[in-house]
Amino acid sequence: MIRSMQRVSAAALAAWFVAVPLAAGPAGAVDPLSQVKQGKEAFAAQCLGCHQTVDEAAAGYRKTPAWREVVADMVTRGAKLDPGQQEAVAEYLTGRSLMIAKCTSCHSAFRALTASKSPEAWKAAVEDMVQRMPPDLRPSAEQTGRIAIFLAVERPTR
Ligand code: HEC
Ligand code: HEC
Repeated sequence: MIRSMQRVSAAALAAWFVAVPLAAGPAGAVDPLSQVKQGKEAFAAQCLGCHQTVDEAAAGYRKTPAWREVVADMVTRGAKLDPGQQEAVAEYLTGRSLMIAKCTSCHSAFRALTASKSPEAWKAAVEDMVQRMPPDLRPSAEQTGRIAIFLAVERPTR
């Protein structure tokens, strides 16, 4: 299945970040928001059975390739995820660990980030925050996009 080969490219993230909502991309392109949403669901269904909390499993900042390895390792331990879901979980956890690495030095864990916002509003809020961050702490444009997508999935409008 082609889907298992799909990855969210930096270009797709940049496109999402520049133009929310995502316009229909080229054939086969993954919508990062949907993928991260799928990752969150698969994570809850397949990872939290053995791991008590999300924080435990997401502890530590890892880039996507490192998360792919962890997820593949967990599949050998019993997590039931097809290749597309594995990729989605790796993307979700990348956004999560980036947010923790880049935002929680000032905001205690999720406390200041508990508002529910639309994807557009999260994008604006994160962009605004990044502008005001000291330059040495600022995430890259790609990382900023991932953080906004993560928060849009984690703290959606109710
Ligand atoms: C069948 C039980 C089980 C499932 C399901 C499971 N894990 Fe694990 N996980 C473990 C065990 C046991 C360890 C400890 C391994 C060790 O210390 O050698 C572990 C360790 C980890 C670690 C720390 C390893 C490291 O390299 O730092 C992470 C992160 C992790 N799991 C994430 C996940 C994620 C993400 C999922 C879902 C895709 C998942 N786990 C699903 C049992 C499970
Ligand atoms: C250097 C410290 C610092 C870092 C790092 C930081 N913030 Fe903030 N953030 C603040 C402060 C201070 C406020 C309150 C500012 C205000 O109310 O005017 C704030 C406010 C916010 C708000 C509330 C804005 C609103 O009006 O709803 C959001 C959302 C937010 N930050 C998100 C983030 C995200 C996402 C990150 C990581 C990319 C981040 N912050 C990193 C200091 C920081």
